[in-house]
Amino acid sequence: MSVADAYRSQDSSDNVAGTRPNATSIRNLQKHYVLKSETVKALRGVSFDVPEGDYVAIMGPSGSGKSTLLNLLGCLDKPTSGSLLLGNDDIAMMTDDQLAEIRSERIGFVFQSYNLIQQLTVVENIQVPLFYQGKLGGKEYQRAVTLASRVGLGDRLDHRPTQLSGGQQQRVAIARSLVNDPYFVLADEPTGNLDSVTTEEILSLFDELNAEGRTIILVTHEDEVAERAKRVVRLKDGLLHTDTLNDPARREAAKKRQALHAAEIAAQE
Ligand SMILES: Nc1ncnc2c1ncn2[C@@H]1O[C@H](COP(=O)(O)OP(=O)(O)OP(=O)(O)O)[C@@H](O)[C@H]1O
Ligand SMILES: [Mg+2]
Repeated sequence: MSVADAYRSQDSSDNVAGTRPNATSIRNLQKHYVLKSETVKALRGVSFDVPEGDYVAIMGPSGSGKSTLLNLLGCLDKPTSGSLLLGNDDIAMMTDDQLAEIRSERIGFVFQSYNLIQQLTVVENIQVPLFYQGKLGGKEYQRAVTLASRVGLGDRLDHRPTQLSGGQQQRVAIARSLVNDPYFVLADEPTGNLDSVTTEEILSLFDELNAEGRTIILVTHEDEVAERAKRVVRLKDGLLHTDTLNDPARREAAKKRQALHAAEIAAQE
């Protein structure tokens, strides 16, 4: 059974009989990097759909094409061939300016190294994507304040990144990723720099956001992170190797086990 069929047959409360539209739909996606002496085929024809509200972990060995795929999903680059739909728009057909516009208006990024602007406060960092759209009014400020509270930083609005812990900085980055109401939140190794207590903090935030309907697509090397997602897509040699749903009961068990472990570690500190 394909993952799409499994979704349709799963009686899950957030996808009534597979009626959710796709946040993205990828068909035979190829990305070749042409260098002087050789061509690197980073993606050799990848196809899958991500319904709205999904939570996908992308895994695979180093060099298998994970970041390449995430960069295409994030409109940072254009495919060599194939299609990648965002809503009804195919990014393969877009000009660089159109890609930049979509990127600033409808894509949310979270990076391993947070990528916050050191001179800006929490509430200003959250507004950065809006700044690029020339939107910086009272309404936008209020939205940033609401998101800061949403990620538990309502009392840190005027702090700068150096005055925050790693987990708090990553929460600012997550709030920033939500400010333009993205098609999906894209995260490349979002917990790669974090200890297990802080990783748990970030993963429970992703759980909550996903329960609220946010679509999340993250790249990870860690089984602990992947088992929290709804679905695991594995790449190998630029091809889709496996695409499996995480059993909801095992997912729930992983959540409990990891939260307990984090609480035990925190109690020792
Ligand atoms: N800008 C580029 N120019 C040329 N080759 C590239 C470029 N970016 C990636 N590649 C090549 O494409 C392949 C896939 O790279 P990619 O970064 O997508 O892998 P990855 O799965 O993210 O690996 P990792 O787990 O190490 O981050 C690799 O062989 C890499 O060397
Ligand atoms: Mg990578």
